[in-house]
Amino acid sequence: MTKQTNHIDFSHIAAQAGQKASLDGHRFTSPEFLEREWTNIWSKSWLLAGMMVDIPEAGDYFVFDIGRESILITRKDDGGVGAFFNVCQHRGNKIVVAERGSADVITCPYHHWTYATDGTLQSVPDEHRFTQGIPCDELSLSPLKVETWAGLVWVNMDMDCGPLSDFLGSIMDEIEPYKIEDMILVKDQTVTLDANWKTCIDNFSELYHVDFIHPQHASFVDCCDDTVNLYPYGHTLVKVDGYVTNPRYPVPFEPNPLLHMQLTWLGMDPEEFNGRVPEIRKAVQKVKRKVGEEVGFSYDAFSDDQVSDVWQYNLFPNLVWTIKPEELWIMRPRPHPKDPDKTMFDKWTLQIKPQGSSSKAKGLTLVGDEADAVAAIDERPEREVFDQEDVIAGDYSMTITIDQDVHYLRDMQAGMHSQGFKAAWLGEDETRVQHFHDWVDVWVSGNPLSASRKQRDAAE
Ligand code: FES
Ligand SMILES: [Fe+2]
Repeated sequence: MTKQTNHIDFSHIAAQAGQKASLDGHRFTSPEFLEREWTNIWSKSWLLAGMMVDIPEAGDYFVFDIGRESILITRKDDGGVGAFFNVCQHRGNKIVVAERGSADVITCPYHHWTYATDGTLQSVPDEHRFTQGIPCDELSLSPLKVETWAGLVWVNMDMDCGPLSDFLGSIMDEIEPYKIEDMILVKDQTVTLDANWKTCIDNFSELYHVDFIHPQHASFVDCCDDTVNLYPYGHTLVKVDGYVTNPRYPVPFEPNPLLHMQLTWLGMDPEEFNGRVPEIRKAVQKVKRKVGEEVGFSYDAFSDDQVSDVWQYNLFPNLVWTIKPEELWIMRPRPHPKDPDKTMFDKWTLQIKPQGSSSKAKGLTLVGDEADAVAAIDERPEREVFDQEDVIAGDYSMTITIDQDVHYLRDMQAGMHSQGFKAAWLGEDETRVQHFHDWVDVWVSGNPLSASRKQRDAAE
């Protein structure tokens, strides 16, 4: 049974919140709805652009492509972070085409106008041929709002928006102990999917499907007794107990093979738990704290639940964070510029820094699918780019669990086009799906973040 906690009254933030959105096929398939989302969600909401680790030094940059826009993120000469539309002010050429790199100045390849890392127009070939003059202030790169938090770069195209802290609220404090900024990126993948971006988010907004398409989960998490938190602006959280077995089935006498392996790697004797399988979760909470001390990773800032369990934050609009003290998956479906049936789905795997090669150290990161256990690497991994057919053919994997989801997403999207489908009929275990779509409706019909800021300013 899903338990829902903190029913937050956010009616003061947006009058419309709380109205039930209808999940009909139109919102997943219509170019018109995609356009409304572009204007009111992607152009108004805070978006995760990328990672600070990609811009450690002045002159470093990376590009964040989202819908029809390309955004250039730079490390400025003064050490700050800049965010600009990646478009030349001369004739509108897209300036940077590389995913990331480093340069003293940003040079448009077409006619070599150059810009400083803070976006200021610096030089123009044959300047004297522009008899009307070159007003550098007007011809600098167009900026976006930018903030950094948790080792991540966030941007907002709305220069009138409220701060990121208004948008994420208490989630920032909840995430803080995980120290994401200290984790290292061990895998960087993008898969192209024949599905709407919201079809992807919906998939990660309920655990109702887990028993049916992820049978292996029955051996290490309890997806039946989850706890759900709902937040303003459309964010959600689900908490799932780890190191347990599926309560739909009889309790096994001995730890199943995955638990057996996890316990062994943590230096525990699996046979000690024969006849005591439900005691494993509590025992692991204690042992992990000890193992952490041995291998130089502190669990002090985490509650017992956080030590053993899997929490998943969905941050509006398009982030799914599966987070454990040792590992974070950041999944980020990005909408196609024109096609509501297509999504670029990014998955970054971040892990705590290597704590030696002992099996105990490995045991800390092996908390879910076996495929999670990525060997610690010294260099930033190159991005793997592939499509859903590659996953289905078994040529690429995003872990067993995500691969299983990928199999179903295109069929879900195909169904949204059928005249035989009226609208989703959601159960109690799909509260987060409804909450997300309620807020999609709030965003497409207004700007709750800006409205909230104006309301606050007026009250002060
Ligand atoms: S379009 Fe960039 S220099 Fe001409
Ligand atoms: Fe799934």
